[in-house]
Amino acid sequence: MEKKITLSEAELPQRWYNIISDLPEKPAPPVHPIELRPVKPDDLEPLFPMALIEQEMSDKRYIEIPVDVLDIYRIWRPTPLIRAKKLEEAIETKCKIYYKNESVSPPGSHKPNTAVAQAYYNYKEGIETVTTETGAGQWGSALSFACNFFGLNCKVFMVKVSYQQKPYRKSMMKVWGAEVHSSPSEETEIGRRILSESPDNPGSLGIAISEAIEVAVKDEKAHYSLGSVLNHVLLHQTIIGEEAIKQMGIAGDYPDVVIGCVGGGSNFAGIVFPFIREKLKGKEIEAIAVEPTSCPTLTKGEYLYDFGDTGKMTPLLLMHTLGHNFIPPKIHAGGLRYHGMAPLLSHLVKNGLIKARAYPQLEVFEAAVTFAKSEGIIPAPETSHAIRCVVDVAKEADREGKPKTILFNFSGHGHFDMTAYEQYFEGNLEDYFFDMRDAKKNIEELREINRNISMS
Ligand SMILES: Cc1ncc(COP(=O)(O)O)c(C=O)c1O
Repeated sequence: MEKKITLSEAELPQRWYNIISDLPEKPAPPVHPIELRPVKPDDLEPLFPMALIEQEMSDKRYIEIPVDVLDIYRIWRPTPLIRAKKLEEAIETKCKIYYKNESVSPPGSHKPNTAVAQAYYNYKEGIETVTTETGAGQWGSALSFACNFFGLNCKVFMVKVSYQQKPYRKSMMKVWGAEVHSSPSEETEIGRRILSESPDNPGSLGIAISEAIEVAVKDEKAHYSLGSVLNHVLLHQTIIGEEAIKQMGIAGDYPDVVIGCVGGGSNFAGIVFPFIREKLKGKEIEAIAVEPTSCPTLTKGEYLYDFGDTGKMTPLLLMHTLGHNFIPPKIHAGGLRYHGMAPLLSHLVKNGLIKARAYPQLEVFEAAVTFAKSEGIIPAPETSHAIRCVVDVAKEADREGKPKTILFNFSGHGHFDMTAYEQYFEGNLEDYFFDMRDAKKNIEELREINRNISMS
């Protein structure tokens, strides 16, 4: 049996999969942030190109990937599926573990799967500048990489804590030509307001999104780009699962469990949605989304309409949320510090098709080191949440005497996360556990907004 199951470029999937077309119950629409009625395509025009708005609202099962996007995907796709034999030996499991290695993209994660598509559609519609937020720095790097290919300016608002923890992510973005600001910044009204109220604010994805949107709406040649959460982002990521299905077939295996970490939900949706398509047709398959205990959106959040950002500029989305004012503790998995969750993923969790688990960061880093020592690749702290869960699921299956085949998404490498590993080895990392009492006021406020929403 081969360690790496690879596909040729000719086998690269030519279409993204839109799960909405197969869902018996359709997800609720986004709602206008002021008028509190369902959003119309025109409402989104200042932010996104029409092609992406159409994808956001589409219920077509498959969407063709443009040739120019496929051309750039070929730089690193198809990505390998790897049998983690050495990890299996290290944790002494009888389970079979496979992982899809999305860390082989030049920026180091799954994020360019949507960044390239988003940059392409913006370029096609004559946009000159794309603005965005970044938490871990992976998304900002991916969008900088993508914009570079289409001659677009890229302005990135990087959450302050990550900006300080990961200076080389910033340099990477600059190599590809992007402009990078620590968020909250002095560049925007919302940034200045937050800094005047709390000068030491560590920043959050919610704040950085507000800043990026503010810049985009003030410039008619600029658009905003989001690295997760929205339907079109999840759609672009399904290339991961489509490849994985072919590769599991070549391996002569099929997963009992599919696992991925979740921040806004895009890498997990990317690997799991094509498998959920099979589950909806009757295949037995378990799907587990993994999040940090410090920001446990799916396991502790409320299922309500909430804003995607702190400044209340985005449409309201029906999702699991800890409230848009929630500032997650400064954990090192910056990409998982998001108060909300992709509405599509939330919908599937609500309907019982996907389960969720939360882990504290010390256990997560322990699993990351086990993985790095056995399989050789150093995982991103975000990805390490998935690895922690894989190890636990394997041990649980062993205890029950029913070994399983486990597939997980290796969403990114941790080459820029050495400060985090350093702090782990020095014993300077602590665990955080979210307490709903901290978010109570926030959630009460949201309930009031939810009562005023009109679906007509
Ligand atoms: C390596 C990696 N994995 C996972 C995530 C979480 O995002 P998502 O849930 O959208 O995949 C991030 C976000 O920055 C990331 O950088």
